[in-house]
Amino acid sequence: LPVDRFDLAIFGGTGDLALRKLLPGLFRRFLDGQIVPGSRILGIARDALDDDAYRARVGEALERSGCGAGPRTAEFLQLIGFRTLDATADQGWDAFAGELKAREPRPVRVFYLAVGPALFVDICEKLRTHGLNGDDARIVIEKPIGKDSASAARINDAIGAGFDERHIFRIDHYLGKETVQNLLALRFANALFEPLWNAAHIDHVQITVAETLGMEQRASYYDTAGALRDMVQNHLLQLLCMVAMEPPATLNADAVRDEKLKVLRALRPIDAGNAAALTVRGQYRAGAAAGKAVPGYAEELGRSDSRTETFVALKAEIGNWRWGGVPFYLRTGKRLAERVSEIVVSFRQVPHSIFDAASGPVTRNKLVLRLQPDEGVKLFLMIKEPGPGGLRLKRVPLDMTFAETFGVHQPEAYERLLMDVVRGNPTLFMRRDEVEAAWQWIDPILAAWNADREPPKSYTAGSWGPGAAVALIERDGRTWHEES
Ligand code: BG6
Repeated sequence: LPVDRFDLAIFGGTGDLALRKLLPGLFRRFLDGQIVPGSRILGIARDALDDDAYRARVGEALERSGCGAGPRTAEFLQLIGFRTLDATADQGWDAFAGELKAREPRPVRVFYLAVGPALFVDICEKLRTHGLNGDDARIVIEKPIGKDSASAARINDAIGAGFDERHIFRIDHYLGKETVQNLLALRFANALFEPLWNAAHIDHVQITVAETLGMEQRASYYDTAGALRDMVQNHLLQLLCMVAMEPPATLNADAVRDEKLKVLRALRPIDAGNAAALTVRGQYRAGAAAGKAVPGYAEELGRSDSRTETFVALKAEIGNWRWGGVPFYLRTGKRLAERVSEIVVSFRQVPHSIFDAASGPVTRNKLVLRLQPDEGVKLFLMIKEPGPGGLRLKRVPLDMTFAETFGVHQPEAYERLLMDVVRGNPTLFMRRDEVEAAWQWIDPILAAWNADREPPKSYTAGSWGPGAAVALIERDGRTWHEES
């Protein structure tokens, strides 16, 4: 369905996020007919570019991202312009505001802050003083929203001074991934799972987000963040919330976000007293990725004294009636063996086996939600191995791979989320209190790590992380899921 006519201003318009994700995403929405004529996309940065020079850059970015230079590319590029603005100087702002205000009839206004958090406050202030924060304006901010709960609160205060919470869209692009939204459908549009979705029937949950990439060209950000802030505070905790939340009464944004918030607040604290037992952090050393030798983190950084973690595994528990005693094992890392993101819900063992040793073991049922690649859902069940030779048990997956089932390209997370912003639907965005509650759980873990003299454990690039991450789960008599 087409969305309303809009003016979208992308601050950081020449940056990596804009060129690699946002503009190709918008192009695909345009090809699908969701963007109506009269909409405009303005790249904004300090660079002295004109519309044509920027269009040329966007055109190249579209080609690089595989969208190609099809017949409609030129048409899309005509929606695009460029304005030179500096968030910390006044020049150009009056003209920019005047231009937006002169548009009749007035389109939806979206300001996407694809810039570092250091500029959030200045940009919001400029938008406010130029009267661009009205009821039809929406502001989109990217993580990192702060580096701890205090700095997140400061950023949220400053943005809140200019914009109403209803108009602030905090992006966590994991919530835009197709399988994550599918989790809502799976849990709440099927009668089958919900009665089993609790500590009585679920043994444990695993959430893995493994990447083969290293820190890439982002040393200045990444080395001050690390995997806990970069991935766990946002993406992994959001996934955990989607798995663990109570059924919201409706899909209304606040109904969903209220339930997620309760989960975050029910997470059992990890602090100096138990961090050593419940968390593992690692940093990659030289190894191989996709068959090619790659340097270690310290070599990429050009320093060997960084204690920044590129890998985290931890055991979280949610202290509430539904989940008491069910561990949620989370792990994420750079330069791991494979790129794979998945949620594994492992059910309890049958209470008693009627089969003898010759049948083989009865293993747990598992529901595996694969976020990427090969998005889909698998339910592992025990069956009898076909054939006349006695009753031998075998675990097989009921398999629904989306690409095979639907045969269509799944939209990328940003495509869906950008259209939701224009529609004014914040269900898949984080509310202020969620972001801060997530930080409040992360803060004591960071404090415990900072107080710890031990550096992160080293792991070989291309492996599955430090051995201690395997030990973390095996100590409990469980193993990380491997496809079988
Ligand atoms: C980003 C992190 O939020 O998510 C990156 O900052 C990470 O470090 C990326 O690589 C992973 O996203 P995706 O969609 O490729 O899994």
